[in-house]
Amino acid sequence: MRNPYAPGAGQRPPELAGRDRELEAFDVVLERIARGRPERSLVLTGLRGVGKTVLLNALRSAAVRRGWGTGKLEARPDVPLRRPLAAALHLAVRELSGRHREEADEVLGVIKAFALRATDPGARLKDRWQPGIDVPAASGRADSGDIEIDLVELFTDVAGLAAAAGKGVAVCIDEMQDLMPEDVSALCAACHELSQQGLPLIVVGAGLPHVPAVLSASKSYSERLFRYLRIDRLERDEADRALRSPAKDEDADFTEDALAALYAATDGYPYFVQAYGKAAWDVATATPIDGPDVAVAAPQAEAELAVGFFGSRYERATPAEREYMRAMADLGLENGDAPVATSAVAQVLGRKPQSLSPARDALMKKGLVYSGERGQIAFTVPHFGRYLRGHASD
Ligand SMILES: Nc1ncnc2c1ncn2[C@@H]1O[C@H](COP(=O)(O)OP(=O)(O)OP(=O)(O)O)[C@@H](O)[C@H]1O
Ligand SMILES: [Mg+2]
Repeated sequence: MRNPYAPGAGQRPPELAGRDRELEAFDVVLERIARGRPERSLVLTGLRGVGKTVLLNALRSAAVRRGWGTGKLEARPDVPLRRPLAAALHLAVRELSGRHREEADEVLGVIKAFALRATDPGARLKDRWQPGIDVPAASGRADSGDIEIDLVELFTDVAGLAAAAGKGVAVCIDEMQDLMPEDVSALCAACHELSQQGLPLIVVGAGLPHVPAVLSASKSYSERLFRYLRIDRLERDEADRALRSPAKDEDADFTEDALAALYAATDGYPYFVQAYGKAAWDVATATPIDGPDVAVAAPQAEAELAVGFFGSRYERATPAEREYMRAMADLGLENGDAPVATSAVAQVLGRKPQSLSPARDALMKKGLVYSGERGQIAFTVPHFGRYLRGHASD
């Protein structure tokens, strides 16, 4: 029998458990935007591995089912938004074009102009990059070089096309915390403008828990544009469903003991649920999968997580950054891995807080830690403190 579980970043789970509330909320958004009503779009926030990406993909599919044009991009630190956004909108417009070929070609020309307008004119000459749009670039629209002006014009044109087709456009942006500051600000301004005009284009986002802080630091009105939904670990019954439903499709099941042991180990974190489900399935020789199966599977699941989930991230950190995280982990032992004060980290290391800011900032940029509140710091990776405490330093 094939193993149905799917541990891995962005891997579609066999059963998307416990996300009905978010899916329903998004349906309401789609419905209202389609009617030209003002409505805040959604931004999913949460720790690593809680299922933001797969839920964002599910939201996108919901938009596709309504005939909307959709595109997706993943923000990266220090990578300007222009090109990835142009590629995402290119796709969205192609999905929409259908009966509106001519208008669509015009809009594609604007997208191309937008993409080709590099911020640094010198770079433009050397750079032979082409957006792969086979219509001539328009001129005088979305190509001023000022990202805020250009985005408003671009979104207006794309949304206009969607409105003419009686549809909408959803642009999905994952890892939203990594957008560059000027891009965040321009995105907010453009979304604001569109909602005032009642045009059917929305930005749907996902990112780490501090995304709301990133957006509101940029534009104070961002809370009126986005509704933040905190994606969290699964409740016991949801975690059970995530495990049992795919098993049942293969005529297998888990005992109550097994499910309790699995929840104790995974805390309901979706990535862990998939990793443990996969290991337990591999170990079990008969159905139902029972407590002893889970006990045998646990070290295997932990070993895989140590490499694929924790280790790959730990390796991205420099020695100074590792030291910083180890100090956080030591403090976490006392407070159950809740956020810790940066001043306490400095104290543990016997250093001045300012001297540690470079390490802390670098860790934030790498997405390993985040600051939900001023002066506080926490791991973005669930159980990371425990992982560090259990692995000798190297
Ligand atoms: N609702 C769910 N039910 C069951 N499994 C889930 C659910 N959501 C996510 N998963 C599983 O959890 C894992 C992590 O999902 P995903 O990559 O979407 O997390 P993420 O929040 O985007 O993480 P990261 O911050 O690292 O990008 C995947 O293996 C996925 O199959
Ligand atoms: Mg993700």
